[in-house]
Amino acid sequence: EEWKDRGAAVGMKEEYDANGKLVLRQVKKGVRDFVFGRTLGEGSYSTVLLATDRQTLKEYAVKILDKKHIIKEKKIKYVNIEKDTLNRLIEHPGIVRLYYTFQDSSSLYYVLDVASGGELLGVLKKIGSFDEECTRFYGAQILDAIEHMHNRGVIHRDLKPENVLLDDQMHIKITDFGTAKLLPDPRAPRDPTKAYDITGAEEESTRAKSFVGTAEYVSPELLTDKNACKASDLWAFGCIIYQLLTGRPPFKAGNEYQTFQKIVNLEYEFPPGFPPAARDLVERLLVLDPSRRLSIEHIKNHEFFDGIQWGRGLWRMKAPRLK
Ligand code: ADE
Repeated sequence: EEWKDRGAAVGMKEEYDANGKLVLRQVKKGVRDFVFGRTLGEGSYSTVLLATDRQTLKEYAVKILDKKHIIKEKKIKYVNIEKDTLNRLIEHPGIVRLYYTFQDSSSLYYVLDVASGGELLGVLKKIGSFDEECTRFYGAQILDAIEHMHNRGVIHRDLKPENVLLDDQMHIKITDFGTAKLLPDPRAPRDPTKAYDITGAEEESTRAKSFVGTAEYVSPELLTDKNACKASDLWAFGCIIYQLLTGRPPFKAGNEYQTFQKIVNLEYEFPPGFPPAARDLVERLLVLDPSRRLSIEHIKNHEFFDGIQWGRGLWRMKAPRLK
């Protein structure tokens, strides 16, 4: 099998500078262009290290994936999905940006934005639960990032507070697109001569569908029809809003099977004191029929988000102090 970005890790291009002198310009970054530092995170197929670009001194988070392990576990497709997805989502402040990819004989390297505030889950655990103001702010940023993904034909499929990172301004950056589903990009011009090879759209109908996601945030349609749609991310969004306000996800049981039972039976409760506007929003998101869940436009106009300035302003706002 092939890695998508096979080829020379570092290429040089001959160019003429302003004085007409022939110069060599490096067109691709490689391992040697970075100084690697401490470990930022570890996953089942990857390690994320802090790294500094030797030339610019800019810091990045570099996700290093072990090729042997990925081949053994048959995950090549997923690492390519992650790369294709990130390449499609560049330039949204709420999504971890992919700057470079390269490889050596043992590993694949994804050079990403550093999110120095760590996971939203970690912050939530530290303070227990968020007040309404913090939930409104973080909920709005997460929703704005979801809207961007959906507009570009990406369903995340594993949204949860561990996959929401925080940058140095305490603004969110969504990460981990390894289980995303890529729909044909609505913005890309279609080439009628090209057979579309979009993972998820074409292949998933024939392949045995396997569970992707995390039990507590998985949507009922994935459990019953084995099919995720854009509204599945909004189910997870409803779970996250509930969790920010209470400190725990709405559907949680001793094991995955029992959690799934609670989800398909819509078995959850609001603790006393849960803010009424948030309750109304969550009740309109945690709806079994995905076609009847609130749309992104309706969520933005919901009274829970009253006062939120959607669009660029949301990313220029100072994050509320966590309390
Ligand atoms: N852990 C995983 N990805 C990360 C990132 N982009 N920044 C900081 N920590 C991370």
